[in-house]
Amino acid sequence: LFKYSMLAMLGITGYFTYITYLELHPRKQLPQSTTFKDGSPRKRLVILGTGWGAVSLLKKLDTTEYNVVVVSPRNYFLFTPLLTSTPVGTIDLKSIMEPIRHILKRKKGEVVYLEANATDIDPTKKNIKIMDNNNNETRTLPYDYLVMCVGAESTTFHIPGVRENAIFIKEAYDSTRMKEKILNNIERAAFLEMDDPKRKQLLTFVVVGGGPTGVEMAAELQDYVNESLSTWMPEISKDIQVKLVEGLPNILNMFDKNLIEYTQAFIKKSKIDLKLNTFVKGVDPNIITVEVNKEKQEIPYGVLIWATGIQPRDITRKLAQILPEIQTDRRGLLINEKLQLLGAESSIYAIGDCTFHGGLAPTAQVAHQEGLYLANIFKQLHKLDQLDWKSQLPSTTEKQLTDIKKKQDHIINNKMPNFEYNYKGTLAYIGSERAIAELKIAGKDYQLRGSPFAFLFWKIVYLSMCVSIRNTLMVSMDWFKFYFFGRNSI
Ligand code: FAD
Ligand code: NAI
Repeated sequence: LFKYSMLAMLGITGYFTYITYLELHPRKQLPQSTTFKDGSPRKRLVILGTGWGAVSLLKKLDTTEYNVVVVSPRNYFLFTPLLTSTPVGTIDLKSIMEPIRHILKRKKGEVVYLEANATDIDPTKKNIKIMDNNNNETRTLPYDYLVMCVGAESTTFHIPGVRENAIFIKEAYDSTRMKEKILNNIERAAFLEMDDPKRKQLLTFVVVGGGPTGVEMAAELQDYVNESLSTWMPEISKDIQVKLVEGLPNILNMFDKNLIEYTQAFIKKSKIDLKLNTFVKGVDPNIITVEVNKEKQEIPYGVLIWATGIQPRDITRKLAQILPEIQTDRRGLLINEKLQLLGAESSIYAIGDCTFHGGLAPTAQVAHQEGLYLANIFKQLHKLDQLDWKSQLPSTTEKQLTDIKKKQDHIINNKMPNFEYNYKGTLAYIGSERAIAELKIAGKDYQLRGSPFAFLFWKIVYLSMCVSIRNTLMVSMDWFKFYFFGRNSI
């Protein structure tokens, strides 16, 4: 038994060393070209974005079949489910960022990456305008196929003062800004006399929005106060107040009633000041105006974190405006069951948070599955395009044409099924090493709430979702470091 265990250990270690080696080294890639060896044209596939949808698509896509160009202002992938752990130093921000070139350089066929924003799309001429992130230089990029995976941006519902005074929690720079603001406020408060009223205001951290982002952010902040500041700055920690403000009667409205009730009771116990039925109406530099039972009230604050959901980006709205009769939903791009953009079905696909279809929530889980689905669609499209090219050759006989038609029909009818979303469940961290989960396993619904097992499960799920071994190891090491040395909150 010992001999076999040793052999198995050796095998596993060898396997992980090998895949880690592969991950850390660029692969010898087939260069891009205008045609394939047989003379057929190689089509250009432009992918907008480097988030959940784009990376899932890219990881599975056979990049030797297209000239793939990726355009995104972000030259890294961001693992959003752990973003709320980063401003307080539970996890290092870099651990949840994966350079996009690490992903692209591992592909068999060369992929070009351009750090830019897509600013205009012309579905008729099949080209896009892109603007360089650093110098505002512009370029026009033609495409045969375009995939929109530009995600969405934080919404403010046009509430005055939010953009100027609040910090969102959506991008990596939001985390850096939030960390800086929190640490500055703590030091400023520590500088003041104990009875200075400004101290209380600086140490009031308000999170607006009781969706999963707001709840997880408030939970992480309260953990930071209870577990880190209470040890190192007890005189500050006792004066910090974390408030979670939600306009509706409940938080986490996508969860089952039991889990909502459990979480609300748990949050109240953890000292977070939970304010339900409290709708933010306006924000000034130090004061939030809220409406409670039609009455106006004021909440002074030091740090304001805004998490009231998402809205389409400018580029998404512009594209919808080009097709006003078809693209009629203000929540996102309308697509069909094959994830083709309504109004430009033959050349534009759209996935993830920039779309609105079938009542699917804007989650990483959806974007990920859509990306994987599209990789297969592009495999089939490539076969169809190759057959189409063959059918147009002057040397193709009538018999060959009939065969080609049969093959094309077979692909369209059998190899390109509609997209079907496979909901696996929802998880949320609620603080003090507790999590809640709704799971769907083999068609049955299960719930986990609050037990250490739920938290361990939450950790395992997120580790398994990381896009690289590097990310998985770095996040694991951060958790390990946190248990031994506490948070890295400097
Ligand atoms: P994104 O991942 O946002 O990617 C969009 C990409 O497009 C980015 O690379 C962006 O830079 C790029 N881009 C933007 N504008 C342009 C442009 N003009 N041209 C080109 N590129 C552009 N979901 C879950 O399922 N589980 C979770 O636990 C979870 N936790 C979350 C926690 C937080 C804090 C947040 C903010 C979200 C969380 N989500 C979670 C939701 C999840 O992150 C999104 O649903 C997911 O990121 C959507 O993927 P996407 O590819 O559509 O967009
Ligand atoms: P959300 O839309 O889920 O929640 C926003 C909350 O803000 C709502 O409860 C709303 O009532 C409240 N709100 C809106 N305006 C308000 C105002 N003026 N005053 C007070 N409250 C106000 O947004 P969130 O949390 O950013 O999530 C966005 C998407 O990302 C969701 O689809 C979510 O499922 C997904 N996500 C999933 C996570 C998970 O699975 N753990 C974690 C984070 C996000």
